[in-house]
Amino acid sequence: MTAEPSAVTVEEVSAEATYDLRRAVLRPEGGEVVWAGDDDPATVHLAARTPDRRVVGVARLSPAPCPWRPEARAPWQLRGMATDPAVRGAGAGRALLGACLAAVAQRGGDLVWCDARTTAARFYERAGFTVVTGEYDKPGIGPHVGMVIPVAGASRSS
Ligand SMILES: CC(C)(COP(=O)(O)OP(=O)(O)OC[C@H]1O[C@@H](n2cnc3c(N)ncnc32)[C@H](O)[C@@H]1OP(=O)(O)O)[C@@H](O)C(=O)NCCC(=O)NCCS
Repeated sequence: MTAEPSAVTVEEVSAEATYDLRRAVLRPEGGEVVWAGDDDPATVHLAARTPDRRVVGVARLSPAPCPWRPEARAPWQLRGMATDPAVRGAGAGRALLGACLAAVAQRGGDLVWCDARTTAARFYERAGFTVVTGEYDKPGIGPHVGMVIPVAGASRSS
């Protein structure tokens, strides 16, 4: 089953609504899917849904200092980005990421950063993110790179 890009809508959801996809895609070998900060009032959880309301993409945003851009005024960390393998390549990830950047801009953020799996780095680059570190390992998950993107409308200090 595939989803046309136009058929996916992105909306704010509860943390709980993201756990099934986190488990299936990001922690298939087991491991915690409930993360510190999930229930923080400032944390934003977004989900991409098909018209039948199925969650096919998830992401989390929270205000957090950027390890590589200490001068950022209002940085936000992106975590837990995942799409259902059944819809990959159909634009759900792009729609979700675009909504993430819009959500941060709406909240006055000036930067989004993430620990990106090297296998997903190209996906983020296509959306305008830049790799700002060498590779580092996250135990049990694999190689990552640090990536950042200034948020439109905010002052570009990076
Ligand atoms: C990375 C991920 C979220 C992308 O989701 P998706 O729904 O396939 O993304 P889209 O279909 O919107 O793709 C957007 C563009 O990025 C490209 N793309 C997507 N994933 C890519 C990847 N891993 N490598 C290179 N390009 C990729 C697509 O081909 C598309 O290109 P286009 O602009 O030329 O059309 C998804 O593959 C995923 O969940 N991966 C496993 C979990 C993961 O690695 N999450 C990121 C953790 S940091």
